Amino acid sequence: MKISPSILSADFAALGDAISRVEAGAPEWLHVDVMDGHFVPNLTIGPPVIEAIKKRTRLPLDVHLMIEEPERWVETYAQAGANLITVHAEACVHLQRVLTQIREAGAQAGVALNPSTSPGALEFVLDSLDLVLVMSVNPGFGGQKFIATTYEKVRQVKALLGAKPAEVSVDGGVNDKNAGALAAAGATVLVAGSAVFATPDPAAAVRSLRRHASEVFK
Ligand code: DX5
Ligand code: ZN
Repeated sequence: MKISPSILSADFAALGDAISRVEAGAPEWLHVDVMDGHFVPNLTIGPPVIEAIKKRTRLPLDVHLMIEEPERWVETYAQAGANLITVHAEACVHLQRVLTQIREAGAQAGVALNPSTSPGALEFVLDSLDLVLVMSVNPGFGGQKFIATTYEKVRQVKALLGAKPAEVSVDGGVNDKNAGALAAAGATVLVAGSAVFATPDPAAAVRSLRRHASEVFK
């Protein structure tokens, strides 16, 4: 299981410190939430902040674009240091083209699905993606309640992928209570914001998530 802590719940005025503290828990990736105030009703950070984060950490940056017309920004985010760029299926008229564009820019390509979007949206782009991000809340804010239909959605995505090596990531309301069931359903990446950064010890929170995710296989 990969753990990708979302810095959305960190103190933006002390981002460098927050990153150093979470690194001590040995997460695989760092999840960066980009919001444009249009696709989602919130506004966060953009390329300059990602560039600054890139200089502070060696963790691969898992950049989640909750923006309209992501095709206009793919190269900029790749140049800023994104290792993985995830776009929303709902925001892409030409999804296959955008995924190809991401790979050509030198990043891995992910597709996020809102809670109401069917996994069927991915059926004809499976060879063009490296990750599926199953949203377990409606995107826009940290600290929301996990939507329980996510388990079935993860199982369906997993079945659709078959033997393909793409990651299945879950984002929103992930915590120690649902980590095990998500792992059992087939999730390979857990994104967690408040469960990691709204605690006194982010490194311990990462280790705890990993422990809960693996317990189900014992
Ligand atoms: C929500 C973001 C998430 C968010 C998760 O729109 O995509 O990555 O940071 O935060 P929690 O884990 O608090 O739900
Ligand atoms: Zn996210």
